[in-house]
Amino acid sequence: MSRILPHGGTLINRLVPEEQKEQALQQAAALKQLRVNAWTISDLDLIAVGAFSPLTGFMNEADYNSVVESMRLADGTVWSIPITLAVAPEVAATLHVGEAIALVGEEDNVVYATMDVSSIYQVDHSNEALKVFKTDDRAHPGVSKLFSRPSTYIGGSIELLNRPKPKKFEAFYFDPSETRRIFAGKGWRTVVGFQTRNPVHRAHEYIQKAAMEIVDGLFLNPLVGETKSDDISADVRMKSYLVLLQNYYPADHAFLGVFPAAMRYAGPREAIFHAMVRKNYGCTHFIVGRDHAGVGDYYGTYEAQEIFSNFTAEEIGITPLFFEHSFYCTKCGSMASSKTCPHDKSMHLHLSGTKVRALLRGGECPPPEFTRPEIAAVLIEGMNEQEMQL
Ligand code: ADX
Repeated sequence: MSRILPHGGTLINRLVPEEQKEQALQQAAALKQLRVNAWTISDLDLIAVGAFSPLTGFMNEADYNSVVESMRLADGTVWSIPITLAVAPEVAATLHVGEAIALVGEEDNVVYATMDVSSIYQVDHSNEALKVFKTDDRAHPGVSKLFSRPSTYIGGSIELLNRPKPKKFEAFYFDPSETRRIFAGKGWRTVVGFQTRNPVHRAHEYIQKAAMEIVDGLFLNPLVGETKSDDISADVRMKSYLVLLQNYYPADHAFLGVFPAAMRYAGPREAIFHAMVRKNYGCTHFIVGRDHAGVGDYYGTYEAQEIFSNFTAEEIGITPLFFEHSFYCTKCGSMASSKTCPHDKSMHLHLSGTKVRALLRGGECPPPEFTRPEIAAVLIEGMNEQEMQL
């Protein structure tokens, strides 16, 4: 098994065993039903398989307040992002602390889980936004999502009865217990986790490979849950990762598995969250580059790295690997960063996301120093398909 303990010491398992499922479903049928959306179903699954260890359910009021105010659960364990269940006030008025309820998919009527309601509480969205996202600007996608939810939350432990079925790329879904086994099976003592919501460009590849030089394996772990509408679809991204791995990575040192969580866009706080979760998947190291999980210019370039200094290495457990903004330097003839390249900015290849998108949309490949041609081909094809669907 993996050499690193899960966050909090134990890998949480809230999956109802197969042999108890029928009875549990019968009991759930008698409970009050709460309809839940895709985001909540994704949270439920990640809690149940231990990806969010030590959480056993949605946060109660004490944990929520403690996380918002001090990035710790009420017992002091580091945790930076509220994992909460918001309910309409008229629904909350029918619920009682101490009762069990059934959580049912709003689109498919599947009974996904039961929850023991231990807390019903009101929150201040503005305070949550300012503390978690460092802004209450509704133009921020995470803030806008937050304000779109009711301000009554319910907390309590959950048990998962039915697992959400992956719509695509089923072969790349692995639970933390599985990735831990897989890494151990490969003989990897050290594994670096890489979070991404974008196609892998040369800068990503560079920092991954720099990290791979000092660890046994790379866990390429793209987030495939809900993202904002102008991010490139998970479908196209997955194709690009597969092409990249096939052509440029040694098979025995890189492993691809998806992270089926929603993107919060909480920058620094999300970097801590991403690191804790990858620890649960069995990673010993985690890459944090420039503006990790950021959006627009809400966060400083290295804020997602600086935030780690609020905690001791023991509290974090996983080792963060920080990388400077990297780029291709025409004079060095290689990828570099300000730590390794002495040359003037005019020699650095810089392309904005807008520029790259414009090139791809026009069927043009960005320079190979920016994006591998094989990746560009996948992106051009994907973009055309996406546009045809619009
Ligand atoms: S994220 O929202 O998932 O963080 P993205 O997929 O762009 O976005 O980034 C994945 C990881 O690569 C993050 O750790 C990010 O900080 C890092 N990164 C992205 N681009 C660069 C770059 N040019 N230089 C250094 N790190 C980078």
